Amino acid sequence: MRIGVLTGGGDCPGLNAVIRSVVRTAGVHYGSEVIGFRDGWRGLLENRSTPLDVAAVDGLLTRGGTTLGSARVAPEKLHAGIDEMRATLDQHGIDVLIPIGGEGTLTAAHVLSEAGVPVVGIPKTIDNDIDGTDLTFGFDTAVSIATELIDRLHTTAESHQRVLLVEVMGRHAGWIALHAGLAAGAHLTLVPEEPFDVDEVVRLVCERFARGDSHVIGVVAEGAMPLPGTMAFREGGIDEFGHRRFSGVAQQLGEELERRTGKEVRATVLGHVQRGGTPTSFDRVLATRFGLHATTAAHEGHHGQMVALRGTEIELVPLARAVARLKTVTPARLAETRAFTG
Ligand code: F6P
Repeated sequence: MRIGVLTGGGDCPGLNAVIRSVVRTAGVHYGSEVIGFRDGWRGLLENRSTPLDVAAVDGLLTRGGTTLGSARVAPEKLHAGIDEMRATLDQHGIDVLIPIGGEGTLTAAHVLSEAGVPVVGIPKTIDNDIDGTDLTFGFDTAVSIATELIDRLHTTAESHQRVLLVEVMGRHAGWIALHAGLAAGAHLTLVPEEPFDVDEVVRLVCERFARGDSHVIGVVAEGAMPLPGTMAFREGGIDEFGHRRFSGVAQQLGEELERRTGKEVRATVLGHVQRGGTPTSFDRVLATRFGLHATTAAHEGHHGQMVALRGTEIELVPLARAVARLKTVTPARLAETRAFTG
């Protein structure tokens, strides 16, 4: 069998571990060949590929990023390019394609699958917002990095009796904010799922200082927004992929808080440091298991599926189900966090 593999969307720690796992499983267990397409769907649209054998993936387990490169492609281009992508796959004699990606990549995988291309998807994203799987690899690494950095901010905030707002990634889902906030003992956690009430944030900050606390740490997901009409908020518009362009919610909230509380406020944006570098052992293991099970599914003819973690087991879920909606933070999970904030 010949397997095609690509990594799409924003990169994420563990992508190289999956590529290695797919190549080793295909080569060693099935005697199959693997062709990697470069820079996500662009590699299929532009017919750019590289053969991947066991030697080519040596040393990839611990390396961050993706050796195949990644890119975002606008959904219209993908829809318009289905015939070209199919032609590339035919030219390389690909029997099954394994796209590794987040919401956008898996949605495109579903479209291709509906068009008759045999596909087995693998979910990745530091945002952990893919439905149908308990976790995506990359998330644990991002949370670990964010937690370590927030731990460090506690001591400097304390020394200066400041409010420190830490902006973490999380476009539509606040999982990183929720977990890193809980792990690092943040006093405030703001997520995209629930617009925040600025009056409430001001009250919380004033109360903490009034009862003698030395500082306040707030974790703010980049996609968090104020309740409409409660604070002037500059929007960043929409990019070419239809994504909201972020305009610095932590900075904007910080300015408002400084004005209304009289306290010194600083905003720190963690940004891409959350996505770079080597994956945690948890993510290496999850990525390796996803690669193994996806390659097995490809050989057993389970197409149109995505590998998923359910409890401790790896299962298959239909791609249609996985991309039907995003997995966002539930009110129950927010309530758990609120028991330790405020
Ligand atoms: O989708 C994952 C993600 O890390 C988001 O949390 C973040 O908004 C986005 O990627 C950033 O993407 P880019 O690399 O295009 O700046």
